[in-house]
Amino acid sequence: MSIRLAVNIDHVATLREARGGIEPDPVHAAVLAELAGASGIVCHLREDRRHVNDRDVRVLREIVTTKLDLEMAASEEIIAIALDIVPDLVTLVPEKREELTTEGGLAVAGHVERYRTLTERFHERGIEVSFFIEPEADQIEAAAACGADIIEFHTGTYANARSGAASMIQLERLTSAARIAAQAGLVVTAGHGLDLRNIGPLRSIAEIEEVSIGHALVGRAVLVGFERAVEEYLQMLR
Ligand code: PXP
Repeated sequence: MSIRLAVNIDHVATLREARGGIEPDPVHAAVLAELAGASGIVCHLREDRRHVNDRDVRVLREIVTTKLDLEMAASEEIIAIALDIVPDLVTLVPEKREELTTEGGLAVAGHVERYRTLTERFHERGIEVSFFIEPEADQIEAAAACGADIIEFHTGTYANARSGAASMIQLERLTSAARIAAQAGLVVTAGHGLDLRNIGPLRSIAEIEEVSIGHALVGRAVLVGFERAVEEYLQMLR
């Protein structure tokens, strides 16, 4: 079975914001990604709106026909927006204003009460909940205790491994974490730092159902076109 591909279109908006205009529109990228076979569209509405903004999220909600995954920090402002627009799925991530990208997974362990209440609020609106966590047993167990539907493993350490041996260690870490998560009844997905060179080995982890890819795919799309870039990724995931 192939791994499904969810395309994160944040960095199309990053390019737009570089000039503060209206192009390129991440909404157009979402349409092209779906036409090319993506199984979902992902965007991260950050507190500082550095890439996608409120208008983008609302229009995406209107036009996405596969699955809209809104990545978000658990801040009341963004929670209110999510409960209002009702994406298919929210992915809870840690967020720091000064970071270039999401650094590390969410600390769910130790905060189960808070995240369980939040998960219930989303479930009441029919929104599925995913937790973006490190591939570690305590975080997986905490996410399950919160009532998560899905967990997304942060693959940054795997993607940044600088040798074959280091990469094997991280692949094994992801493999055993995926088993634990599947046994806990969670859908397993993965993302961060994935590209055409490092996604192949993830196919050996049967529990991973979907990957979420942004930066490298959008970078490739700038050179070869959005649909072709998505098709290349789908080919690798088959
Ligand atoms: N998954 C989550 C939860 C993320 O926060 C990000 C980065 O926004 C990604 C996947 C995609 O990472 P990348 O842009 O490195 O492909």
